[in-house]
Amino acid sequence: MPNNIQISKVNVKDAATLLELSRTTFFDAFLHQNNPADMEAYAAAAFTLPKIQLELNNPDSEFYFALVGGAVAGYLKLNYNAAQTELKDAHAVEVERIYVLNSFQGQQVGKQLMEFAMQQATSRQLKYIWLGVWEHNTKAIGFYKIKGFGPFGSHNFMLGSDEQTDILMKKEL
Ligand SMILES: CC(C)(COP(=O)(O)OP(=O)(O)OC[C@H]1O[C@@H](n2cnc3c(N)ncnc32)[C@H](O)[C@@H]1OP(=O)(O)O)[C@@H](O)C(=O)NCCC(=O)NCCS
Repeated sequence: MPNNIQISKVNVKDAATLLELSRTTFFDAFLHQNNPADMEAYAAAAFTLPKIQLELNNPDSEFYFALVGGAVAGYLKLNYNAAQTELKDAHAVEVERIYVLNSFQGQQVGKQLMEFAMQQATSRQLKYIWLGVWEHNTKAIGFYKIKGFGPFGSHNFMLGSDEQTDILMKKEL
């Protein structure tokens, strides 16, 4: 790992920082390809302090910050067991969110977060790691492919009033 990138577990006391980072990275990633009203509708439900605190307090979910030179550059959300949004397989982990701030993209922050997720899964002796990605998110799909993920299905996802298709991808460990 480049020695200026650190991965640090997010605690409930960091909820406000995580909330701001979640909203910023979500809008930066998807606003240019989506209806602003659908983006706001989704964000208004998903990115509130009580919701983030609830997720942080779920023993089957873990959030991690990527820090570059001490500054928060991105984050990762892992779900185990019943916290997984689908499958809910005790032998699997879901990468529900992996987001890097625009200004830190292309500096291997995403790669370090994904490799950290794989280490966590390996240390728990899980069989595979999986995720859902919007079919039009070609950048992330390219990133997942080079990390060894392959498609295995799809599911529908509501972004506000817009029904979208997520590709489900997994990597065996
Ligand atoms: C997808 C994302 C997490 C990748 O993180 P990143 O820090 O920009 O990527 P990295 O710099 O770590 O790149 C890691 C490797 O992937 C490669 N890569 C990155 N994007 C790629 C792409 N679109 N196609 C092919 N390869 C890609 C890099 O070249 C690098 O390869 P290397 O290890 O051989 O040097 C980041 O772009 C992001 O946050 N995007 C917006 C949010 C998002 O879409 N999240 C996923 C939601 S499902």
